[in-house]
Amino acid sequence: MAIISSKKQPPDPDRQPKQRRESVTAPPQQNMLQPEAAIDEQGKQEDSIRPQRFADYIGQKDLKDVLDIAIKAAKSRGQVLDHLLLYGPPGLGKTTMAMILASEMGVNYKITSAPALERPRDIVGLLVNLKPGDILFVDEIHRLSRMTEEILYPAMEDYRLDITVGKGSSARIRSIPLVQFTLVGATTRAGALTSPLRDRFGLIQKLRFYEVDELSQIVLRTAQFLQTPVREDGAAEIARRARGTPRIANRLLKRVRDYAEVKKLGEITETVAAEALHLFQVDPCGLDWTDRRMLSVIIEQFNGGPVGLETIAAATGEDTQTIEEVYEPYLMQIGYLSRTHRGRLATTAAYKHLGFKPPNQQLSLL
Ligand code: ADE
Repeated sequence: MAIISSKKQPPDPDRQPKQRRESVTAPPQQNMLQPEAAIDEQGKQEDSIRPQRFADYIGQKDLKDVLDIAIKAAKSRGQVLDHLLLYGPPGLGKTTMAMILASEMGVNYKITSAPALERPRDIVGLLVNLKPGDILFVDEIHRLSRMTEEILYPAMEDYRLDITVGKGSSARIRSIPLVQFTLVGATTRAGALTSPLRDRFGLIQKLRFYEVDELSQIVLRTAQFLQTPVREDGAAEIARRARGTPRIANRLLKRVRDYAEVKKLGEITETVAAEALHLFQVDPCGLDWTDRRMLSVIIEQFNGGPVGLETIAAATGEDTQTIEEVYEPYLMQIGYLSRTHRGRLATTAAYKHLGFKPPNQQLSLL
């Protein structure tokens, strides 16, 4: 199944691109990760919490500025938006940004993910059903199969599908014109894209970790949607432990809300948030059990490193990809881990955070 989600924008004559547009019949919503029963409720709640326009989107100012210019330029020329590659750690808002782009451009979007595009016909089916100006969002785009990727090259470059008809010496390529569309690709690993694919994106933009004050605002905004009373110091405490990531901030808020409700503690204050997150083993810097285990393995078993990724994976029970894409970016961002070609090193700050005495040699190295 290739489509995960799609959305038709409400008609707004002033915001349509100059090409003729037709309506899209939205297929049933799908979610890759959730069991069927949970899809609707959770999906709907997350959709209503997501900011719909740039004006509501907190943080990522540089990215918003760049995209705002691209949108205004495309609209004033009556053209579709250039293909856009968004990269950065998970949970920073790549999907939300694609939805906002569609809303700001006044076009529809379809959301899919590279692992859902197994067969060539999956991507072909999506491409031929696009309407002029539509946004096709492909998550985890670094995981596209080679065949799917090759179908995308002429589709991105010339809005054309090249289909091979027949076999062997009688094989011919038939070209089918496509409508103009925008591909928004998202990845946690920009370096894993092949260069022909990367080169076909007109805009390549990185999403950064959020500042604590931005995350506090996000927590307060989400709390309003959830009708949960949160004091500013409570939101700040959640934000400090959210690893610079809105998805984590909103997840922590829900856990703290559960705690405050069950214990009948009333509004979420700094103390309530700290108590709840201590219970969930999220420490004051936002590190969880796996982060601490990773660092303590490096420190206690390997004298601070360097130690290989595979060894850390074996010690923590996480796979190497999750360590590289989910855990390491934040540990490096806060200066607790450094990655060298010889392996991973725990920094002095990591020693101190975990209550270990940094070795002198380590001090001189870092
Ligand atoms: N919810 C999740 N991410 C958000 C953001 N960047 N701005 C506002 N609300 C959000």
